[in-house]
Amino acid sequence: MIPDDEIQAAAALLRAGETVVFPTETVYGLGADASNPLAVRKIFEIKNRPDYHPLIVHIAAASQLSTWAREIPDAAWRLAEAFWPGPLTLILQRSSQVPNEVTGGQDTVGLRVPDHPVATSLLHVFGGGIAAPSANRFGQVSPTTAQHVHDKLGSKVGMILDGGPCRIGVESTIISLTHGEATLLRPGGLPVEAIEYTLNQKVSLAQSVASKLLRAPGMLDSHYAPTTPIEIYPADELWDRVYQLANLGHKIAVLNLSANNDVSHIVGITSLQMPLLADEYGRELYATLHRIDHASFDHILAEAPPAQQEWIAINDRMRRAAQGTSNKK
Ligand code: TXA
Ligand code: MG
Repeated sequence: MIPDDEIQAAAALLRAGETVVFPTETVYGLGADASNPLAVRKIFEIKNRPDYHPLIVHIAAASQLSTWAREIPDAAWRLAEAFWPGPLTLILQRSSQVPNEVTGGQDTVGLRVPDHPVATSLLHVFGGGIAAPSANRFGQVSPTTAQHVHDKLGSKVGMILDGGPCRIGVESTIISLTHGEATLLRPGGLPVEAIEYTLNQKVSLAQSVASKLLRAPGMLDSHYAPTTPIEIYPADELWDRVYQLANLGHKIAVLNLSANNDVSHIVGITSLQMPLLADEYGRELYATLHRIDHASFDHILAEAPPAQQEWIAINDRMRRAAQGTSNKK
């Protein structure tokens, strides 16, 4: 655990308008005082993030919802009661005290109570809301360890609180409650079925329903991309592509799910056995991508994960990562 005086120092930095990186159960966040526009602007500068992309405000408890949101529907209280602290972000009508800098000028605000002892202590000691996107440069892979943040943003941030590797490893599920029915803006750490069960109602998918009504930059296809280009293939096509590129002399990292290929003897191919359980895969995905980016591979070739519900967030992030790297080519 992190010593109390470090938490106190971090809260003091937030009060002074500086940034603090803190762990959550999903990914590390780059935090600033959500009520201080100048502090919030620093987040956008450090991330190189376009200023119209709204930030999530992290709060200590659901009881603070009404400070940040208005016209809070009953569904929001029910979801908060069931899943906070936890990997769920609610998009609600914003209250008048939310600065434009946080919401990208939109009339709505994203709110979440994170489930990590360090985040909880920091939020309690600080007392206010902490605006925090994932602590990575815009469009890159989110950090799931303090080391990832040191490597990419180290000198730019006020302080980094190290709470160990993130337990979930994929960002929060984002649900909008601003247009009556609950709408999924981003699949994530909390399964949609759990939300549907609690609301006793189907959650509509932003792709089909609300993508034109609501903005979520997580929907930009170039998000969550490693610097090493990544391609995804079904199991029966994967190895043809691996051998094709290896024959051209390329160095390949394979994210393998079917453990039936021994390639340890083939120069240029490193096969990484990925977890067969979605939870574990999610926990390891970003760390694996960070590690591969450090190791000078020419390509990442991934076996497509299963299509079942529990893999929806992973499939989403991998598809974006593949799209992002193909845009950079
Ligand atoms: O797990 C997480 O959600 C992590 C941790 C740090 O809490 N945070 C995170 O933040 O992933 P970020 O900024 O990387 O992604 C937040 C997403 C963005 O796609 C943003 O567009 C969406 O939330 N968002 C925030 N406020 C919104 C709003 N008012 N309306 C629609 N989308 C919003
Ligand atoms: Mg992010």
